[in-house]
Amino acid sequence: MGEGTSASAQPLWAGRFSEVPEDELARFGASLAFDARLWPQDIEGSVAHATMLAARGIISQEDADAIVAGLRGIADELAEGTLVLDPETGDEDVHMAVERVLTERIGAAGGRLHTGRSRNDQSVLDTRLYAKAAAEQLMAASAELAGVMLARAEESRDVILPGYTHLQPAQPVLLAHHLLAYFWMFRRDYVRLAAARDAADASPLGAAALAGTTYPIDRAATAEALGLSGVIPNSMDAVSDRDFICDLVYACALAQVHLSRLCEELILWCSAEFGFCEMDDAHSTGSSIMPQKKNPDFAELVRGKSGRAIGNLVSILTVLKGLPLTYGKDLQEDKEALFDAVDTLSGSLMAVTGMMRTLSYRVDHMAEAACEGYMAATDLADYLVSKGMPFREAHAVVGRVVARCVAEGRTLQDLSVDELAEMDASFDEGALAALDITQVVARRNSEGGTGHDAVEEQIRLAREALAEMA
Ligand code: ARG
Repeated sequence: MGEGTSASAQPLWAGRFSEVPEDELARFGASLAFDARLWPQDIEGSVAHATMLAARGIISQEDADAIVAGLRGIADELAEGTLVLDPETGDEDVHMAVERVLTERIGAAGGRLHTGRSRNDQSVLDTRLYAKAAAEQLMAASAELAGVMLARAEESRDVILPGYTHLQPAQPVLLAHHLLAYFWMFRRDYVRLAAARDAADASPLGAAALAGTTYPIDRAATAEALGLSGVIPNSMDAVSDRDFICDLVYACALAQVHLSRLCEELILWCSAEFGFCEMDDAHSTGSSIMPQKKNPDFAELVRGKSGRAIGNLVSILTVLKGLPLTYGKDLQEDKEALFDAVDTLSGSLMAVTGMMRTLSYRVDHMAEAACEGYMAATDLADYLVSKGMPFREAHAVVGRVVARCVAEGRTLQDLSVDELAEMDASFDEGALAALDITQVVARRNSEGGTGHDAVEEQIRLAREALAEMA
């Protein structure tokens, strides 16, 4: 062995080498520091593989039993923490580390485990098993958050607040309607995560390095043992496809963007200037210098983490874009993007679910704001339309009414019928009812609108959708 190589064990592939990379370079190439978390999947995959090898007579039953017992023992110790996969041992990745420990413990039988298998099919199998389970956990967490949004909507059926376009007061809406808009976002996140789970749900095991194997393996048996729905039909595709990672990382990125939008709104709404809600103390933080501060730190952090969520998507797509078939070491870069996307979304869903569950609304401030900002202007124009005026003309008349109110520092509701009639003869008593904010909301009963009846129907649809989730 060459000078400068480590005191650590030689790589399992060292046979054809006269020298192997020095420690620093080996560490650069190693993935154990981040793929160690795949040990449960790696062991599960190896148990299935060894069992299949024995069933096909490729290894003896005795060897398979020793391998399975050895792997189970390793799994127990890893779970307890009495065994740790330490990058300092010099193991390149989780696959090498588990195989090394196994072989140290059970001897020659351990050396038979890798028959008819490559790390190329092994590592992507582990990653698929991980992605499938992670997608399911995120689906459950998204369903929980969707459920909280729906519950909060159901208790906010009578609360009116301004709806905004361009962040300018536009038309009043029910708080329930506003919250349900997020419900549907989270519902779509759930559906996307489910699609990503399904994309991961196929077995690459048996593809070996890239071309399949000469051993009479049984790919369907290992797929079934691992709870995967089938086998990937092309061995070259099996070892090089990472679309399932892109799907999951995209689902995570978009879900994170949704959370970020909600958090941005909470941050605005909790400001003194909006004053629409107050974050629970246990979901806020204070300042080290300003005693009066109550900061929506966790909402800000979720918003900030959308940067890494989007970065992870760019990262995985870029890793794949120039890669010829089949495996390239570039693909080792698939895992950190995936793990970070999952961890980031998982933490963010936890934080936002707690925030939304405990948030208190300042209903009086919302109602006050809903009466300012001339948000009944469209309805006043519609009133003129009901009197026979073309909408374009009515728009112009009400525009002049608003301009007058702005100049005089008054609201539309401050105007008398006489003052209105001065501006256009079509205005009469009925115009005052058109300006009533509760009525402005209640009239919008078109399908999917903010009127009470339309929102009741929407709540019914949301209940149905939630029942199909998780
Ligand atoms: N640690 C590697 C990865 O994550 C495992 C596969 C290595 N295969 C190879 N032929 N070097 O991609």
